[in-house]
Amino acid sequence: MNCATFIMVAASLLSWADSFYHHSSKGKEKELQYLVEPPVYPAVMARRGENITLPCVMQTKPSHYRVKWTKLDPLRQGVQNIILISNGHADKHYGVLGPRASLRRAHALDLSLLLFGLELEDDGQYRCELINGIDDENVDITLGIEGVVFPYQSSRGRYKLNYNDAKEACEKQDGTLATYMQLYKAWTEGLDWCNAGWLNDGTVHYPIIHPRPACGGELLAGIRSYGPQHRTKEHFDAFCFTSTTEGSVFYVPGVLNFSEALHACKKEGATLARVGQLYSSWKFLKMDQCDGGWLQDGSVRFPITNPRKRCGGISEAGVHSFGFPKQSVRIYGAYCYR
Ligand SMILES: *[C@@H]1O[C@H](CO)[C@@H](O)[C@H](O)[C@H]1NC(C)=O
Ligand SMILES: *[C@@H]1O[C@H](CO)[C@@H](O)[C@H](O)[C@H]1NC(C)=O
Repeated sequence: MNCATFIMVAASLLSWADSFYHHSSKGKEKELQYLVEPPVYPAVMARRGENITLPCVMQTKPSHYRVKWTKLDPLRQGVQNIILISNGHADKHYGVLGPRASLRRAHALDLSLLLFGLELEDDGQYRCELINGIDDENVDITLGIEGVVFPYQSSRGRYKLNYNDAKEACEKQDGTLATYMQLYKAWTEGLDWCNAGWLNDGTVHYPIIHPRPACGGELLAGIRSYGPQHRTKEHFDAFCFTSTTEGSVFYVPGVLNFSEALHACKKEGATLARVGQLYSSWKFLKMDQCDGGWLQDGSVRFPITNPRKRCGGISEAGVHSFGFPKQSVRIYGAYCYR
């Protein structure tokens, strides 16, 4: 790692801070006349599966208006993802979010949007736009999905995934490719990982809490950046993101090979757990099990919430991995999901 990398880290942190602090006032030269400018930078957090309200309220009502809710897509500038348009009487729903959206209408001045059954992809920025013919106004609101970031490596080894493979790998593990903000938050919470992985914007990063020679040398702690990379030619690992799940993960003890583990879960009316599901149970249900168990992708892992001497002297909470053992090996139990 070199000086250029460090500059890229600094630059990406700056542009992050820039978009964080200036986002809500971007493109607004004049005072709002109708909509209430929120007193603080508006962000709401919720988990997958939950319902949420994105607040937007008028201070005074124009005689005629329409309200338009859109989801902003920083990866596709200029594309408008309309969710809902209302003239105050009738609502029209659009796109993938439309069927899960409606106006709250808690009172005469309420334009807030209700979103039902949140999905991982709903994370992002939303815009409430009042269309009045002359003075169109808008406020932006950030919706953050509360979840957990996990690094993912192919069973074929380190740095085997191009962007599309990485995206697919996360989806197979009940996740999505993480955003930079999600990785950043995970880093503040302690994620330290010495392998670079794809993020959903096509950039490649890795988060370091404890700088060490084997890991970019004496650079400062932070999110190290390789910047944008070629999506089909370049190969790295992935940073996946997941949130709460409907079901939960449980451990079935035994000395099972991989196919026996599959059967053990089936007998319980369950399936072998995906990696994201195990991380979700660790994060949200505080799962703690000092036994390696097979997962659906053929890896063997175990979740630790309370690190202890009697569990291999593991000093850090987290989901630990034994990699991808040969499927005939009979040492481990099974992590099932139901
Ligand atoms: C979300 O709203 C729907 C419809 O009103 C309701 O059936 C469901 O229980 C709600 N879910 C949660 C998690 O509150
Ligand atoms: C696991 O063991 C069973 C016998 O209990 C055997 O039939 C099966 O082929 C083994 N599977 C693997 C992947 O080694």
